[in-house]
Amino acid sequence: MLKIRAHYDVIIVGSGPSAISSALKCAEHGMKVLCVDNFPPSSNKLSRGKFSHAPSEEIATLLHSAKLYSELKINSRFHGIVAENISLNLSQFVERKNSIFTQIEKEIYKSFNTAEIDFFNASAKLIASNAVMLSYSTAEPSKLVNAGNIILATESIPISIQCAPVDYQSIYDSSTAFNLTEIPQRIAILGAGVIGLEIACIWNHLGAEVILLDAQESFLSLVDHQISREAYKVFCAQGLELRLGTRVVSTKIINKKVHIEYQDSDGVHVIRVDKLIVASGRKPYSEHLASPEANLLIDQNQFIFVNDNCRTNLPNVYAIGDLTMLGPMLPQKGIAEGIYVADQIAGIQSSVVNYETIPNVIYTDPEIAWVGQTEQSLKAKGGAIAIGTAHLGYSAINKSSNYTQGLVKVISCPKSDTIKGIHIFGNNASDLVAEGVLAMEFSSTTEDLAKTSHSHPSPSEAFRYACQYINWK
Ligand code: NAI
Repeated sequence: MLKIRAHYDVIIVGSGPSAISSALKCAEHGMKVLCVDNFPPSSNKLSRGKFSHAPSEEIATLLHSAKLYSELKINSRFHGIVAENISLNLSQFVERKNSIFTQIEKEIYKSFNTAEIDFFNASAKLIASNAVMLSYSTAEPSKLVNAGNIILATESIPISIQCAPVDYQSIYDSSTAFNLTEIPQRIAILGAGVIGLEIACIWNHLGAEVILLDAQESFLSLVDHQISREAYKVFCAQGLELRLGTRVVSTKIINKKVHIEYQDSDGVHVIRVDKLIVASGRKPYSEHLASPEANLLIDQNQFIFVNDNCRTNLPNVYAIGDLTMLGPMLPQKGIAEGIYVADQIAGIQSSVVNYETIPNVIYTDPEIAWVGQTEQSLKAKGGAIAIGTAHLGYSAINKSSNYTQGLVKVISCPKSDTIKGIHIFGNNASDLVAEGVLAMEFSSTTEDLAKTSHSHPSPSEAFRYACQYINWK
């Protein structure tokens, strides 16, 4: 068994993507690192192993299997492929995802071992700016460990709401949304935000009737409106039932069915479904992370106060990832912060995290991805903008895979020609957005992109077309 030292250069609390990136970077800088994690209560029904994963990692894995199933069932015949008696084993479907994460864990363990990072499964509580108390689920006594620096990286957990208490039999949260034994006929999802939609797309591909209920009147209001309008049309055509402006007020389980009472502008309605999944948002997982004597500043929504350098109010204590209000609640921003903080601790001058160029992705089918600002936010600021769009359906590759919907939209400043935002709705948008991130990170102009060679045929050509459109005007 690993023997914990009494002192480390750095203690990292958490083992999600931000923590892992930070631990490896600290070790690369020659520091002795302890990484410690217990798992959020909501995930205790998942066989997740020892490291925690961002929800998007699990969703992206399941979506891949769900797309394959629906391709074989519905689309294979268009390719002249005869696939008969296609059926789905739900437990194997989930087990495959679990085994992928077991494999990933082994790889992380291996790199931790190579980097001589100590990893321990325990509950860590910050008790001072240089000390954490570790307590174990076993009878082992708690242990005080000191460190020169402490990085808090416990990420976020689903928000539970009183009107729909999770019981893991009829009502599930977003972390356990696929822990069912069979495909429900009719499923409702509370929340048509990022995670609600991702879960909806998977269940829809698996053949369930999916109803999304969201209190907001507008669909994906944070996304560029042209993209969210297009996505709304496509998702509805796929069979998702999107009931917007509907606030869920209560739920009851009667004869194993969930009776959901919701309110909209016409009054109160009740629907009956087999299962309900609550995807009403996420909150920082900061409860019990610090003892009151530590005096760590945390706001009423559980976010830890940090300055632009991820430093908390306590000397040498940092918070990264979903725990803070800096940037979006996305694993890629936590990963960037983890590396930046490790550099700061090592005394290495590195540029601060550029939150403007963090890509956002929604793992639906097709995917939604963007970087930079939306048309509506730029217009609200009052500056002039130029817009170029190109449809992804023109690409022979997208046509051959039946992905004929979707677009790439580039927004630029007409004076400097620099790119202000790139928005994509389409197959593999999560990959395509990387070109936009790079272009913005290096302050490229639309002319640069229009003159850059892109593989033909490939969906990435849409970037060139969208930028050419701006340049021709
Ligand atoms: P969200 O805020 O995107 O959507 C929640 C929706 O629930 C809202 O639209 C809200 O109107 C609705 N809602 C809440 N209570 C309701 C009620 N009683 N009746 C009807 N509707 C109700 O939250 P989501 O999808 O859970 O995502 C949370 C955040 O997590 C997002 O910022 C997302 O980008 C991020 N995210 C983070 C990941 C990570 O690994 N860090 C992975 C995936 C998403």
